[in-house]
Amino acid sequence: MSDPRLAELIRRLPDVRLLTDAGDLEHYGRDWTRRWTPAPLAIALPATVEEVQAIVCWANEQGVAIVPSGGRTGLSGGAVAAHGELVLSLERMNRVLDFNPVDRSLTVQAGMTLQAVHEAARGHGLLYPVDFAARGSCSIGGNIATNAGGIRVIRYGNTREWVAGLKVVAGNGELLELNRGLIKNSSGYDLRQLLIGSEGSLGIVVEATLKLTDPAPPSQVMLLALPDMDALMQVFALFRARLALQAFEFFTDVALKHVLAHGGQRAIEGDHPYYVVTEFDAVDDRAQDAALAAFEQALEQGWVSDGVIAQSEAQAAALWRLREGITESLAARQPYKNDVSVRISAVPAFLHEMQALLAGEYPQFDVVWFGHIGDGNLHINVLRPEGVANDAFIAQCEHVTKLLAATLQRHGGSISAEHGIGLVKRAYLGSTRGAAEIALMQGVRKVFDPNGILNPGKLFAAD
Ligand code: FAD
Ligand code: MLT
Ligand code: ZN
Repeated sequence: MSDPRLAELIRRLPDVRLLTDAGDLEHYGRDWTRRWTPAPLAIALPATVEEVQAIVCWANEQGVAIVPSGGRTGLSGGAVAAHGELVLSLERMNRVLDFNPVDRSLTVQAGMTLQAVHEAARGHGLLYPVDFAARGSCSIGGNIATNAGGIRVIRYGNTREWVAGLKVVAGNGELLELNRGLIKNSSGYDLRQLLIGSEGSLGIVVEATLKLTDPAPPSQVMLLALPDMDALMQVFALFRARLALQAFEFFTDVALKHVLAHGGQRAIEGDHPYYVVTEFDAVDDRAQDAALAAFEQALEQGWVSDGVIAQSEAQAAALWRLREGITESLAARQPYKNDVSVRISAVPAFLHEMQALLAGEYPQFDVVWFGHIGDGNLHINVLRPEGVANDAFIAQCEHVTKLLAATLQRHGGSISAEHGIGLVKRAYLGSTRGAAEIALMQGVRKVFDPNGILNPGKLFAAD
């Protein structure tokens, strides 16, 4: 290693796996945003907690910034290393450490994929309920660092609800054991919750004890076509009152167009501006009758124009693909992403203001809306038209995001519902958090990471 800092790291940790090939630097230096040019110093792939601690101590002494890295499926630039940072990838720390049937908890290393966690829980007849389309690649450490949401929040809540304990290497290299799997622990500040959603800026999650629950009851999946935007929340209110919802997700005809072009199967004929995929408990015939009655009432009210209910698991998966395939179908276009939320009660008014804003500001752009509307969470993906230079495109999107942030502020919403702030949204943090709150957050960061080596430049515009 010609870099003296890396030579020193190897001297201390002769067995640590380090990558410095150009291909590896590029691969590990970016996430799904693809907006920044990766330029890490090197990639470290520790295999033990002790190695993580030693790397963090080395980084403090050498003044090297660390980017904690999971599956790099993040959509906010949180795992991007564009300024000579050391990428610390948890991917080799990917084992189940313990299952406790009495506590119904699973203790895992942070680099395990979400899907592997699902499978491990299923192997014990239980469920880890946080779920979304990146399940095969994202890591549980990344999910915790972003407080990931997904398609079942309406039933189960965000990642935050499912973390019973954490082991974390703080910015000074110390190992913290937070909450140790306790259900009740009224002994002062809950630092575990502070770590959840901290985007790698307070500590490196190395292990997590996750709560598990009973498998979801048998369910049915329905696709609904809606005639207008107002119908979205009317149908939601009706279905939520009548059915035990597991998911209630929406997308527009523009989103559908992209998914169909990428292998999705059309399930409802005709042109409809809005669609909903909903999944609900269907334990017996009564639940099915209730679903049909709700559908018929929505039809009578003019809130839905068509619908289909899956008759098999394959059909259910095909309906879900229309919703879950959206991100993948847009990926090659590198969309500019907004991920915003308001309280459910504020959704109708917010949607109207937002629609007017986007129509006025993006007249000639393809704008794709979708998301977890039952949680008040909307994804807006803007596609760069051919012939518009990338810089001009980003500048226009930033301009609109500023206006969107002001709209959100008026509605008491958040500039990041579930993807995190990272690099993408740090300029807008102040629209969601007050100045005093941001100053406290930065103060907390100083306590956990006195030398500011953990993911500097993410979350806050300036440390
Ligand atoms: P990374 O991208 O590697 O990192 C994300 C952040 O976490 C970075 O700031 C990184 O520094 C930090 N980090 C990573 N590991 C650690 C660790 N061990 N300790 C400390 N910090 C760490 N997100 C949702 O919330 N809901 C969705 O429905 C959803 N759907 C998606 C669908 C697709 C197709 C894709 C590509 C992404 C989707 N995402 C979704 C976004 C993304 O998958 C989540 O943010 C996920 O939690 C990121 O996990 P990761 O392991 O890939 O993290
Ligand atoms: C989703 O809900 O599909 C995700 O959060 C991904 C995205 O916003 O692209
Ligand atoms: Zn989402």
